[in-house]
Amino acid sequence: MIGAGAMGHGIAHTLLRHGYAVKFFDASPKALESAKARIARGLERDVEKGRLAKDEEEKALARLTLASHLESFSESDFMIEAITENFEVKAGVFGALDKICGDSAIFASNTSSISISRLAATTRRASRFVGLHFFNPVPVMKLVEVVAGLVTSQQTVEAAVALAQSLDKTPVCVQDFPGFVSNRVLMPMINEAVFCVMEGVAEPQAVDEVMKLGMNHPMGPLELADFIGLDVCRDIMRVLYDGFHDSKYRPCPLLEKMVSAGRLGRKSGRGFYDYSSPPVLS
Ligand code: CAA
Repeated sequence: MIGAGAMGHGIAHTLLRHGYAVKFFDASPKALESAKARIARGLERDVEKGRLAKDEEEKALARLTLASHLESFSESDFMIEAITENFEVKAGVFGALDKICGDSAIFASNTSSISISRLAATTRRASRFVGLHFFNPVPVMKLVEVVAGLVTSQQTVEAAVALAQSLDKTPVCVQDFPGFVSNRVLMPMINEAVFCVMEGVAEPQAVDEVMKLGMNHPMGPLELADFIGLDVCRDIMRVLYDGFHDSKYRPCPLLEKMVSAGRLGRKSGRGFYDYSSPPVLS
């Protein structure tokens, strides 16, 4: 597992809970240590909630190894990457791993919108490269979107499906097009909700209430945008816009403005809602 952010530690936690041995790397040793602490808390919670037997908790944590360099992955058979959503950074890591890992190792990216075919083409194992798109919070959400690149082999797709099923997730196979299915449908909805706020159709709370009470969504689109990160939402809208050249995918100017102002949602303490304590007045 490469990348100790919210998705990476959630995926590692889920793998450990289901009996896998996980080697975990992040360029930041501090991020890796704090991810390990969060995983330990998550496993403790699993025991409290009866999802894991008490004697399994210690064993699960013992199966986690923190790696200090990528060379440690020479024996690994399935790599999952969940690092920053930047093509060059991901390509750099996959390029390095391609030289380190054995020929049969499968590479999977948790990217939410970067082309799997393009990432695969930076390695010499494009047929063994697949998208494995988890959803936040990973231990809770049932879906894994399995994304087949242009030359991903059927065998690789089947291995990804089997892995997802062994984690008690429901894999859904899709082809590699911008936003796949999840974000091609979700992000325009969020973007449209931001247009509603920008145009004064309704306040954020009202937009969210409409979608929660009228459509039974667990979170309203703006609350969800804050949860995902407004920068991530904006970046995915740009991928859709650049990929399809269709104006319906243009990011809402208010979304752009909020990202420029550093209002990124929960992670920055402020987005459409205020998460700071005490709340910021304005
Ligand atoms: N991290 C980890 N676990 C979390 C969590 C978080 N941020 N938030 C909630 N949970 C856990 C809780 O601990 C609880 O687990 P326990 O069984 O251990 O108690 C469980 O989720 C349910 O939580 P709550 O009962 O407190 O709250 P809830 O019923 O309101 O559910 C929620 C919370 C699951 C987050 C729900 O609001 C929800 O489903 N929201 C929508 C989430 C969503 O759409 N995610 C996808 C985002 S898109 C994405 O990830 C991919 C992309 O490409 C952008």
